Amino acid sequence: MRHEQGFATKAIHAGQAPDPATGAIMTPVFLTSTYVQEELGRNKGYEYSRVSNPTRTALEQNIAALEGGTEGLAFGSGTAAVDAILHLLAPGDHVIMSQNVYGGTYRLARMIWEGYGLRFSFVDTTDVRRIEEAILPSSRMLFIETPTNPTIDISDLSACSALAKRHALLSVADNTFATPYLQQPLSFGIDIVVHSLTKYLNGHSDMLGGLVVTSNADVTERLRFMQKAVGGILSPFDSWLCLRGTKTLAVRMKQHCENALIVSRWLAARGGIGRVLFPGLESHPGHELAGRQMRGFGGMISFDLGSLARAAAFLKNVRLCALAESLGGVETIITHPATMTHAAVPPEERLRIGVTDGLVRISVGIEDAEDIIRDLDTALHESGL
Ligand SMILES: Cc1ncc(COP(=O)(O)O)c(C=O)c1O
Repeated sequence: MRHEQGFATKAIHAGQAPDPATGAIMTPVFLTSTYVQEELGRNKGYEYSRVSNPTRTALEQNIAALEGGTEGLAFGSGTAAVDAILHLLAPGDHVIMSQNVYGGTYRLARMIWEGYGLRFSFVDTTDVRRIEEAILPSSRMLFIETPTNPTIDISDLSACSALAKRHALLSVADNTFATPYLQQPLSFGIDIVVHSLTKYLNGHSDMLGGLVVTSNADVTERLRFMQKAVGGILSPFDSWLCLRGTKTLAVRMKQHCENALIVSRWLAARGGIGRVLFPGLESHPGHELAGRQMRGFGGMISFDLGSLARAAAFLKNVRLCALAESLGGVETIITHPATMTHAAVPPEERLRIGVTDGLVRISVGIEDAEDIIRDLDTALHESGL
């Protein structure tokens, strides 16, 4: 009987046989735009690097294996990957999206795709009844993000996929926050998984990328055509950087989860702080569901300092934790969603979805947890909190 490899083994080996020409254990960076053909119509599987490149292929196969899908398709950013997915639709089609998807996904939907005739409803996808109520005759896609940015809401992957199937909607899950180490949406019946590689999958804050995984042959064919026809593909060097990142995904995610649990418990116990949002805390509404569909609770925490002035004072005083956009790197990064990641969302809409002016989001890194806590504590004290 064939033994199915474990996640950490696949992360290191899937898609990456030693280089047949040299035996190099690391997939080379194939810095080539084109490939010499043996004769007309005969090549070694590669024609032109917009269409495919061996380093990109290795990354696409690696992450497809981690997600349990048949095909992976890499794009120049997570946003370009989401954009490619929206290209699957036609004018007049309606999409239901999680109400607090990443602000850039909201901006792409409202400020670009609505201009081309797509229609969007942003709903609380933690409640499947709300999704069902939002379905229109023209609905074609359900796009969820779980855990979602920045309120760390959890949507039920199997309930969402079952509902989507009943209504013939293509289901999409943005798995950036969880990574395939913590959850594999395809195994819950979701049709398409999308990632910003920029975050945990690469893990070292040194490249941007996006990736789509699916087992749906029609979607694969159309997205492969999109890579060729639109051209927003990932470069060989960035593919190589990300391949290096996925090799350590399992160990990094374990440490992110462990540190975030310690930091969230400390924040919740400290006092002087408003709500602390982390699915690993029993107080979190998604705690039980996250425990069922995820292998751990992830590394993202949000907490409310009550006002913009308090958040600004605190963010000025952190030293080890970096005030920056993005998440998922080995270093701890702190963000102010209302003015940074979610600045494209109108203020009244931000309030409706819980992105208050005092909300601070922390991507807990894999430094020593005591050092992260010491930095947060000092910054809170220095801000009079
Ligand atoms: C959940 C999520 N999806 C998609 C994106 C977009 O990815 P990128 O910045 O690589 O374009 C981000 C970026 O922050 C994100 O957090």
